[in-house]
Amino acid sequence: MTAYKNMTAAERAAEYAKVSAHYEELKSLGLKLNMARGKPGTAQLDLVSDIFDLMHDPADYVSDGIDVRNYGEMSGLPAAKRLFAEILGCKPEQVFVGGNASLQLMYDTIAKAYTHGLLRSPKPWCKEETVKWLCPAPGYDRHFLITEHFGFELITIPMTPAGPDMDAVEEAVQDPAVKGMWCVPKYSNPEGIIYSEDTIRRIASLQAAAPDFLVMWDNAYCIHEFEGEYVPFPDILAICEENGNPDRVFEFASTSKVTLPGAGISCFACSEANMKHMEKLLTVQTISFDKVNQQRHVLYLQNKAHALELMGRHAAIMGPKFRAVLEALDREIAPLDIASWCRPKGGYFVSLNAMPGTAKRTWQLCKEAGVVMTGAGATYPYGKDPQDSNLRIAPSLPPVAELEQAMEVLCTCLKLSALEVLGV
Ligand SMILES: Cc1ncc(COP(=O)(O)O)c(C=O)c1O
Repeated sequence: MTAYKNMTAAERAAEYAKVSAHYEELKSLGLKLNMARGKPGTAQLDLVSDIFDLMHDPADYVSDGIDVRNYGEMSGLPAAKRLFAEILGCKPEQVFVGGNASLQLMYDTIAKAYTHGLLRSPKPWCKEETVKWLCPAPGYDRHFLITEHFGFELITIPMTPAGPDMDAVEEAVQDPAVKGMWCVPKYSNPEGIIYSEDTIRRIASLQAAAPDFLVMWDNAYCIHEFEGEYVPFPDILAICEENGNPDRVFEFASTSKVTLPGAGISCFACSEANMKHMEKLLTVQTISFDKVNQQRHVLYLQNKAHALELMGRHAAIMGPKFRAVLEALDREIAPLDIASWCRPKGGYFVSLNAMPGTAKRTWQLCKEAGVVMTGAGATYPYGKDPQDSNLRIAPSLPPVAELEQAMEVLCTCLKLSALEVLGV
């Protein structure tokens, strides 16, 4: 197969006719396929549904002498703190265990900075004239939405294969209005990038002009390898402390993609000084989170080694799906030189860069053929990809056979939109 840009006009016209005919065929199948969001597939949910077989014995309702069924322990069960601390490599006393979603804790952290200020804030952020926020992109749309929602000015920071472009970050934080940044340090959403040690140290040692500069360290995919061995990852809290910035970071994690999304448990981890400040604010808001579910998770996951063993079983389901995506792209798209993509070993996404100016059109063509993908542009602040190039593929939900069909549609749409731009 010749790369499209090396084809003659006549060759491209012939190719366009062939690809268009195939697209019409696919459209006539009336497909209804979804590669939009990073949801575990049914087989993964089935895998963990034995979590409901636990807690029949009255002794199971007691953890470290605490009756988990009652009010109390606002910052979480000690056993749940120990579990997350072991997974994240931090100390149990640095962990706050919350409810069913880490995104809620992230929103709440920003909301508290906005209404009351963080430990080191000269004033609540709502009293600041402007709050600016660094958004490594492509990134997670829901992160960007939270900071947009509070009226912050979002600043795009390009991603590199080692994490956010740290030269750009170091320059941006000279501005005291820049109050923080989003980070997904391991298997970033959507590129699956693992931040390098150098990137992590540069983030921890940033000379930020804002005294309350906040790193939102969303370690959502901390144990989510689907290929190869578990990759150990440094403890950001310890590194920030070593660099004289112990209160800079809030780390987040959850069991959404370990057990059940929306019915798991979540946490944030921070310095003990930050913890005191947050507990003071949180205690106004709630008496305690769902400790019954915390206990259920402690009994089910037990410890890091046991959780990793479960993640190995998720990987056996996820791995073939990611391979199906990459095989389709390698076979159908690579020879045409019209797109590039990442090859992650963990996380929930494959990030695809289509020929500039074709992402929206490709998304629309997919939709018309019955394949739903995350909106083009969603991976950039304000939903605007300046290149109109990035598309996020979420292979986890459909079974492999459906995924193969969906990929056939996507590849066909990528070809059509590239041919339209190149001219036929
Ligand atoms: C980077 C990232 N953080 C957080 C979440 C959501 O986590 P939770 O279910 O704990 O709110 C997702 C879900 O896709 C994600 O990709």
